Amino acid sequence: MNESTILIVGKHGKTGARVEARLQAAGIPTRGVSRSTSPAFDWEAPETWPAVLEGVRAAYVTYHPDLSVPQAEGAIRDFVRMARQAGVEHIVLLSGRGEDGAKRAEDVLRASGIDWNVVRASWFAQNFSENFMLDGILAGELVMPVCESREPFIDVDDIADVAVAALLERGLRNRLFEVTGPRSMTFAECMAAVSEATGQPVKLRQVPLDAYLAALADQGVPPMMRSLLEELFIVLFDGRNAATADGVREALGRPAADFQAYARKTAATGVWDRAPAGRVAG
Ligand SMILES: NC(=O)c1ccc[n+]([C@@H]2O[C@H](COP(=O)([O-])OP(=O)(O)OC[C@H]3O[C@@H](n4cnc5c(N)ncnc54)[C@H](OP(=O)(O)O)[C@@H]3O)[C@@H](O)[C@H]2O)c1
Repeated sequence: MNESTILIVGKHGKTGARVEARLQAAGIPTRGVSRSTSPAFDWEAPETWPAVLEGVRAAYVTYHPDLSVPQAEGAIRDFVRMARQAGVEHIVLLSGRGEDGAKRAEDVLRASGIDWNVVRASWFAQNFSENFMLDGILAGELVMPVCESREPFIDVDDIADVAVAALLERGLRNRLFEVTGPRSMTFAECMAAVSEATGQPVKLRQVPLDAYLAALADQGVPPMMRSLLEELFIVLFDGRNAATADGVREALGRPAADFQAYARKTAATGVWDRAPAGRVAG
């Protein structure tokens, strides 16, 4: 087991926070960083990178906002080069399935000479509870531009378990883990699982992609995030990612968690609770 400090790029992220919590529970020193930490780390400010790499032997790396954006490949190339110069021996990179930009970033890491792992994930189940789909669920109606496509949503707790195993078990190094949930589901099936888990029905309504993006603009979602979502919806929901993959079992020797289990444990946290109908605020 590696006892030296492990860097986590994306400390407050959906996966970074979970990876850091697991490492700390195992007594491993961590340095979780993002723009709001001290020292700070900003993907758009390479001058912030050397300080966080000092004294680090291994790193878990998440790129924000997404490896599919044009500037990601260059940023990963520069970061990996700097990490190697700083003495980092092993990087575990979170990647996304079916994205050309993500594949290019993976290739940069694999060719770097540093020990590597790629955790290439399907869409996160936690997009329904910790990301842009939460508001729709709280409103009782999820509005989406795609409804019929199938996706094997993965529980990010499984991603964190795989990333931690990759960081700590030498025998898993230099391998790609393609991680998905155990079954492909439509958004309607996901909403049925959430409705059952919460006891509050959530409707699903499909709108054309243009109308969906216009509504995001009205809600103040920045142009960069809108164009990212547009690309993800057009590219990733063409059927290419519908099949499941077995990376969770390959890394951990157990199956990935089912969406229904995710829905039940998430409902129990109260994050999907709505005010009772008819209650007047104040
Ligand atoms: N969502 C999915 O379904 C999905 C599926 C497959 C792969 N992925 C991949 O997952 C990665 C994101 O990982 P995640 O979901 O664990 O993280 P995340 O939740 O997207 O991370 C959010 C954190 O990133 C930090 N951040 C924002 N801008 C930053 C910048 N310029 N420099 C440094 N940090 C910045 C923010 O913290 P501060 O405000 O403190 O900086 C924020 O709290 C992406 O590369 C994406 O491609 C996502």
